[in-house]
Amino acid sequence: MERELREFWEAGARAVDDALDALIPPGKGAGRLHEAMRYSLFAGGKRLRPLLAMAACEGAGGSLREALPAACALELVHTYSLIHDDLPAMDDDDYRRGRPTNHRVFGEAMAVLAGDALLTLAFGVLAKAPLPATTRIRLVDELAEASGKDGMVGGQALDIEATGADGQPDPELLRDLHRKKTGALIIASLRMGGLCAGADESLLDRLSAYGQAVGLAYQIVDDLLDVGGDARRIGKAVGRDAALNKLTWPGVYGVDRSREDVRRLTKEAIAHLHGLPGDTRHLADLARYLADRDR
Ligand code: IPE
Ligand code: IPE
Ligand code: MG
Ligand code: MG
Ligand code: MG
Repeated sequence: MERELREFWEAGARAVDDALDALIPPGKGAGRLHEAMRYSLFAGGKRLRPLLAMAACEGAGGSLREALPAACALELVHTYSLIHDDLPAMDDDDYRRGRPTNHRVFGEAMAVLAGDALLTLAFGVLAKAPLPATTRIRLVDELAEASGKDGMVGGQALDIEATGADGQPDPELLRDLHRKKTGALIIASLRMGGLCAGADESLLDRLSAYGQAVGLAYQIVDDLLDVGGDARRIGKAVGRDAALNKLTWPGVYGVDRSREDVRRLTKEAIAHLHGLPGDTRHLADLARYLADRDR
């Protein structure tokens, strides 16, 4: 990773970690639910969605700090989605972020509840953000739309329905599935970051276009890492998609074409940044880095 991007990444991740730590502070006697929430939240996630929100805020002429509540809310929703994604009823995974999955440590009931509590907290954070009320309402709406039935949860439902299906894979369904389960929250990260800087609709559209391309590329790379990644490096088991007969990009198009699609989508994403009013360096660097990531 280039120095410039690494410094942005470290500063952004630290700011988010500190803010999350203040929201759910460490402390003996806070109870199992509290402990379970902290366990997954501080397990070493990449904090990509917060970073995208912060970079988008900069791209729209704002600062990293202004996007902090939105960044926290996004990471809270994302972490909840991972806890539930790993449950035996879903992907039945034992490792996540380099440690045993939440339900393996706290039990299924507590893992479900930790996810529920993280999700709920996210909306409380947005409601209390030091931003104008109209902005807070927009942020709540963006996050609700992106994480609900027509977003992440809807995508997860499509994923579950497609898992283990026999017959010809449906490329349209695959695209829809990836757009919803991963793309929606990534697009929301960019739009929410933009909103924190007071972006207008045309600017939000540009950020969405960048997010759509980066979001799809991100899940394609996730699928590729499940085929050829290093389990220690990515902090989760590999080969799970094939074992579960999941509908994935390399499964339908093969590894080479998948890599090619990632390259094309990354170029497309960067092209959408031209003419944004603020500093778009970090958004461009992030897109390039994510295309080549090994974790
Ligand atoms: C994994 O997300 C699941 C997807 C939606 C692709 P990340 O790769 O961002 O996972 P963390 O947050 O770094 O653990
Ligand atoms: C998960 O997709 C997307 C979510 C909304 C959590 P995957 O099931 O492929 O994510 P990993 O590979 O387990 O992180
Ligand atoms: Mg899954
Ligand atoms: Mg999974
Ligand atoms: Mg995966």
